[in-house]
Amino acid sequence: RLLSGEETVVTRDLVLRDGERRPVEIHSNNIRLDEENAVLLYMRDISERLETERTLRRLGRRQEAVLERERERISREVHDVLGQALTAIRMDVSWVRSHIDDERSPDRLDEAGERINETIETVRRIAHELRPGMLDDFGLSAAIEWHANQFANRTGIAVRVAVGDSPSLDRDLSTTVFRVFQELLTNVARHAEASEVDVSLTAPGDNLVLSVRDDGRGMDLSNVTDSGSLGITGVRERLIPWGGRLDLASQPGDGLRADVIVPLTNQHEEVEQ
Ligand SMILES: Nc1ncnc2c1ncn2[C@@H]1O[C@H](COP(=O)(O)OP(=O)(O)OP(=O)(O)O)[C@@H](O)[C@H]1O
Ligand SMILES: [Mg+2]
Repeated sequence: RLLSGEETVVTRDLVLRDGERRPVEIHSNNIRLDEENAVLLYMRDISERLETERTLRRLGRRQEAVLERERERISREVHDVLGQALTAIRMDVSWVRSHIDDERSPDRLDEAGERINETIETVRRIAHELRPGMLDDFGLSAAIEWHANQFANRTGIAVRVAVGDSPSLDRDLSTTVFRVFQELLTNVARHAEASEVDVSLTAPGDNLVLSVRDDGRGMDLSNVTDSGSLGITGVRERLIPWGGRLDLASQPGDGLRADVIVPLTNQHEEVEQ
């Protein structure tokens, strides 16, 4: 193939002196050099590229798995919680129907009313989890405050929130930052053993900065890219199209600080690129 003159690219494992194998791409090209035919060969280490491709494939699979788990959870909630509540209400109603003059009927109706209120709450909550309407109606700051409160109620971890008015943001960017926030809080609940979390959303200069700081056990940052966990990798992937980044600072035993920084200039151009 070399002699045929066509440009060729082959991928091989290169074995280094210490026995380590490195995937390489070998390019060859026929050229003229000092009036002579010559072959230009060059070799490129592609281990990083392959690693990135593997990570992207894992992310894709994980995203599918996460979606599927979400669907299962929602279907369970709709079936168990809503189904059960509505059945109970129907039973209350038919009881009252057949005891229309019974003195217990008003109580039974009150109970049914209570259940209806609870059910309305549940429907609201499920709808919010699917797409926090607050993001569209009141913006990122309100959605972050709302989610922080939900989180505090659910986990018992105190959350202090300091958010100013968020600048008017692109809808997709708001969604991205909100999903990142959800992942960071989920990590606090799952890993940090924290008792307090400080959240702030500010817009210094031309940046949007979301900080989530917990007082938990912190982490060894050299393990972040270990295979298996994709939450933080996923957060970083989400921020790339916006030119944003995630900075982590921690010492074991000393809590974790996560800063999400997204430049606000040229938002749209960044995405198109
Ligand atoms: N707030 C935190 N405090 C302490 N350790 C943390 C915190 N956040 C993350 N970690 C550590 O970093 C690791 C990587 O987090 P990451 O979100 O990427 O994965 P994960 O939460 O384990 O799994 P998932 O892929 O479901 O998110 C965690 O396994 C945990 O050990
Ligand atoms: Mg996680």
